[in-house]
Amino acid sequence: MPPTMRRLRPAAAGNGMKYGLRLFSDKLDRLTFSAYFLGAVVPLVALAVVVERFALPTMSARNDALGLIAVVVSAAMLSLGSYLVLRRSTRRTLSRMDRDNHRLTSLLRVSTRLAGVQHVTDATDTAAQCALEVTSSSAAYLCVAGAENPEPAMAAAAGEGATKLYEQVGSELASMASFAMEGARPVVREAQGETPHAIAVPLPGERRQIGAIVAVRTASAPPFASEEVDGLATLAALASVALLNGDLRDSQRNFFSHVTDIIVTALDAHLGFHEGHSERVAQLANRMGRTIGLDDEALQRLHFAALLHDIGMLKLDRSQQMNPRTCDKHTLLGSRMLGRIRLWKDVAPIVHHHHEWFDGSGYPDGIAGEEIPLEARVIAVCDAWDTMTSESSYKSAMTRDEGIAELEACIETQFDPELVRAFRALVDAGEV
Ligand SMILES: [Fe+2]
Repeated sequence: MPPTMRRLRPAAAGNGMKYGLRLFSDKLDRLTFSAYFLGAVVPLVALAVVVERFALPTMSARNDALGLIAVVVSAAMLSLGSYLVLRRSTRRTLSRMDRDNHRLTSLLRVSTRLAGVQHVTDATDTAAQCALEVTSSSAAYLCVAGAENPEPAMAAAAGEGATKLYEQVGSELASMASFAMEGARPVVREAQGETPHAIAVPLPGERRQIGAIVAVRTASAPPFASEEVDGLATLAALASVALLNGDLRDSQRNFFSHVTDIIVTALDAHLGFHEGHSERVAQLANRMGRTIGLDDEALQRLHFAALLHDIGMLKLDRSQQMNPRTCDKHTLLGSRMLGRIRLWKDVAPIVHHHHEWFDGSGYPDGIAGEEIPLEARVIAVCDAWDTMTSESSYKSAMTRDEGIAELEACIETQFDPELVRAFRALVDAGEV
């Protein structure tokens, strides 16, 4: 093949007008053309053959023959025109389906992102980011209103220069958010001069609108389409659920944090001789947990278990605490107390096993090695270290070297060797 032909071919494929009318380019076009060919072209050709064979020979007048040919050609042109209209409408439908599919995929992605949020702040930031994606906006804001402040105020912004833009047109956007909340429906405003296009959709709450999502697009861009308004309204519904979930989770964390604080204070007062012990064990366990690479969920479990590891002591009076036979029951008592609380169910086994020994000679179950939950093995090391190196009403504190020597003397019997080594590294690094 000559070199010029090789150069022409790709260009001809990409520019049909230059190298001939390109009637079809993809699968759907080819299907449409096939339907047109079988339904219109074949019958037309057959008609032309019939006319040429049987009708024209019988006509004597030249004008009659030309008239018949003109009718056949007109029918052919009409058929071709119908095909082109059909092709155009098919392409439009395809393009709309493609956009809807893209929007649906975006909303699914958004839904997954919002379902995973843990805090209200995560929910507001994620919703503002998602608004950019759903509407192809240049800036998006999430505004919330509360019982104390019924006027919506910006809680999160997304998009380059979004904060600066809010300083310029924030009051107008807040008014739109307010209107959307009052009317419980979207408010759309087209650009005027330098003022950008904007949409505000309300965030539905249980009893009232809790805020609004506002999306902004520069004045030079096309106005928001109705599908974009619908997409943003769907996002607002998803964001509302995420905000309520985030608020519920924040409330739970707040409740557990303060209730734990109250329990730990009561425990310190009840024991009377190890003031601050639970708090210190929790701090040590947190450092250990991060060193050995526990994930956030395990770290949270470890934190509560370390704070509450001796909670069972609350059920023992002073004489029972001083008697080893009855004192040992605090692990069982503690795990029973926590096991009844659904959100602390995972913490109960750690508290249950925090006095097991690595060689199986501990209590209450005498399990050994990795049978003992990892968090319980971590607490065992931290508990022993704090007990040895803190002064109490009945003993003086060991030095760091003495404490390390004691831990290392109990490797393989009482403690997990790997964890003692990790703990020693923290002590040597000055982190304990
Ligand atoms: Fe204990």
